Amino acid sequence: MAETAQLRLGEKTIDLPVIEGSEGETAVDIRNLRSETGAITYDPGYANTGSCQSSICFIDGEKGILRYRGYDIQDLAANSSFLEVSFLLIYGTLPTPSQLEYFTRSIRIHTMLHEDFKALFQSLPKDAHPMAACSAAVGALATFYPDSLDPRNDRQVEISVHRLIAKLPTIAAYAYKHSLGQPFMFPRNALNYVENFLHLMFANPCEDYEPDPVVAKAIDLLLILHADHEQNCSTSTVRLVGSSMVNLFAAISAGINALWGPRHGGANQEVIEMLAAIRDEGMTAREFVDRAKSADDTSRLMGFGHRVYKNYDPRAKIIKGACDEVLNKMGVHSKLLEIAKELEEIALKDDYFIERKLFPNVDFYSGVIYNAIGTPANMFTALFALGRLPGWIAQWVEYHGDPDFKIGRPRQVYVGETARSYQPLDER
Ligand code: SDX
Repeated sequence: MAETAQLRLGEKTIDLPVIEGSEGETAVDIRNLRSETGAITYDPGYANTGSCQSSICFIDGEKGILRYRGYDIQDLAANSSFLEVSFLLIYGTLPTPSQLEYFTRSIRIHTMLHEDFKALFQSLPKDAHPMAACSAAVGALATFYPDSLDPRNDRQVEISVHRLIAKLPTIAAYAYKHSLGQPFMFPRNALNYVENFLHLMFANPCEDYEPDPVVAKAIDLLLILHADHEQNCSTSTVRLVGSSMVNLFAAISAGINALWGPRHGGANQEVIEMLAAIRDEGMTAREFVDRAKSADDTSRLMGFGHRVYKNYDPRAKIIKGACDEVLNKMGVHSKLLEIAKELEEIALKDDYFIERKLFPNVDFYSGVIYNAIGTPANMFTALFALGRLPGWIAQWVEYHGDPDFKIGRPRQVYVGETARSYQPLDER
């Protein structure tokens, strides 16, 4: 007999079904709450509300566990590649050699952008934020591919998925090249996915460029770690926008905009700017931590805290290790990494952070590596979007196949004026 929850509201008591997840989480199914009681729930920021049942990503925030389709993030980080993880997230299983070969080849032959995209980028100011350029360009993909926009046509969805994964690195690199006033590079399909991205970003027509394999491997790892994360702000945005039955490009463009926010993916840019400010203003780590704690100061210790993780974000742990490894291999000493480690050491012993269970999250160390390879801070969130893209796609595809699929339309508690009559202008 399935468990139920009882709710007593006024004179009425109702039984609500309880759903149990495969990892033992329980959810009270309130689908009939309003029809049976006239009441709704109120949950600002949806901190206690499940929007869907999903099989893609599992997080145990208390234990610091993250799994993609049941595989621990540590296993995938140590053994997989970003394209293999993308296949896993979207199709639900690790690919066979032939599946991975087909997936990789299909993406490789779609890396070029229509030549008219150059005019779109050239219409933007040189200092346009790359996230604005990326969301505009991804939305514009829908205008170039009107033949593959139907979210319920499997073949059209597959080609759109491959085009998106193939073209977002080109789009992000075009945004960077436009900001430099440098020519856009054509993709080199002989390179692997990340090497090609590095080529698009850092090569120029006047000299030979070979991507550094150490850097390529580090970026591939970072993309794996950013690939999905349950119903975070941008993924929930992709699902909500997708629930209107709009095409995949439009839903992903919306996700890019949600990710841009400093409380979400934009935090990786904020972290490196925070570290640089501490360095350049000669502040001590202790002084900045005290500012982040102060109610009178709006500063936050960016890259710390998480809605779900109340323990160390497992991704942050892996990235911190990669920072040391990559910077040593590159022979780079990073003062910013030193400051980050000092901030972490102080914060983790400080009651303010301990009481609020604030730990380093995925954004705390990632920018140190991006910075070390020469990526400008305003490109960091675009790199986050590159990583999160397969997760957004997987969640959008899952939602379209969900038997509970319906347009997302939350309720509200109205607290405004009650009915009142219109007053003519000369009586006000
Ligand atoms: C990502 O959801 C995801 O999965 C996101 C993500 C993903 O992969 O998709 O993991 C990626 O977005 C990571 C988070 C990146 N953002 C930052 O690093 C920005 C800094 N962190 C915060 O702004 C905050 O911690 C959030 C937004 C991440 C979480 O916010 P919550 O859960 O709504 O918590 P809150 O803002 O209500 O804070 C609770 C308390 C408050 O203090 P009190 O009012 O209780 O006194 O903790 C304080 C906050 O002031 N607090 C911080 C803090 N984060 C929270 N104080 C100082 N520095 C911080 N970083």
